[in-house]
Amino acid sequence: MELGFKNRVVAITGAGRGIGRATAKMLAAQGASVGIIDNLGESAKSSARELTEQFGIKSVGVAADIASYEDVVRARDELAAALGPADVLINCAAIVEEKLFLDSTPADWQRTISVGLFGAMNCLHAFLPSMTQNGYGRIICLATDAARIGQSRISVYAAAKAGVVALCKSVAQEVGASGVTINVVSPGTTNTELRQITQAKIASELGPERYERRTKNVLKRYPLGRIGEPDDIAAAIVFLASDRSAWTTGQVFSVNGGFTMP
Ligand SMILES: NC(=O)c1ccc[n+]([C@@H]2O[C@H](COP(=O)([O-])OP(=O)(O)OC[C@H]3O[C@@H](n4cnc5c(N)ncnc54)[C@H](O)[C@@H]3O)[C@@H](O)[C@H]2O)c1
Repeated sequence: MELGFKNRVVAITGAGRGIGRATAKMLAAQGASVGIIDNLGESAKSSARELTEQFGIKSVGVAADIASYEDVVRARDELAAALGPADVLINCAAIVEEKLFLDSTPADWQRTISVGLFGAMNCLHAFLPSMTQNGYGRIICLATDAARIGQSRISVYAAAKAGVVALCKSVAQEVGASGVTINVVSPGTTNTELRQITQAKIASELGPERYERRTKNVLKRYPLGRIGEPDDIAAAIVFLASDRSAWTTGQVFSVNGGFTMP
């Protein structure tokens, strides 16, 4: 199946590592030009260099904090100058802090919501105008199943992602007539640095025996018997970002090994 990425420009936030980086690689393999936005500027630039070396495509890495509207606008303009205006936006950047809600502070809420929810708003607001003008666009935001079913210790992050879902569905209704689709990919637990950091914290709190028991119990909740790998999530994102995904908008697509079955 031809996915139509050869003349497409894709902007991906949070693609310095994890799901974003895996998605950037899959898109580069399809011939897309790829702009990487990450607050870790060195990761963004090295990921971009790697894509060009490995796949011979145009790629650029830009340091920007998606919580800042000014940063996002600057990143959009730098990408457009290097690659042309983005046809596709994929918003992967987010932060998670594992804490019981009553142990969290207003400063924690501020940062998690600023990146998770305001970051998505900044990206949609900055990238949409050229897409609606060109009559073509694909936007995919990452959420989490916790946004729908809740999850202890990540309440503020889950709340931010629930906001992202509502944002995407609402804006999808506003821009559909301009040829722009907006969808959400909602991963289950996926083996990235984000997860490794939170797991290390839980393991040190529980000790080896309780942690192993906990891990076995978690896996029992996945009918497919394993947690996800970044490529599992990237494959779904790539389809929704493609020309072939022309009649899907405002949807939340869980890629989760069967963890939830809404
Ligand atoms: N890994 C999982 O288990 C899991 C589960 C559900 C949802 N998700 C979602 O998938 C997406 C990707 O997760 P991941 O596991 O690859 O994460 P990750 O932490 O491995 O990678 C996130 C990337 O985003 C960048 N980033 C963080 N804050 C930023 C900011 N303010 N501005 C720009 N870049 C920033 C980081 O530097 C990093 O490169 C996230 O939106 C996450 O919420 C992940």
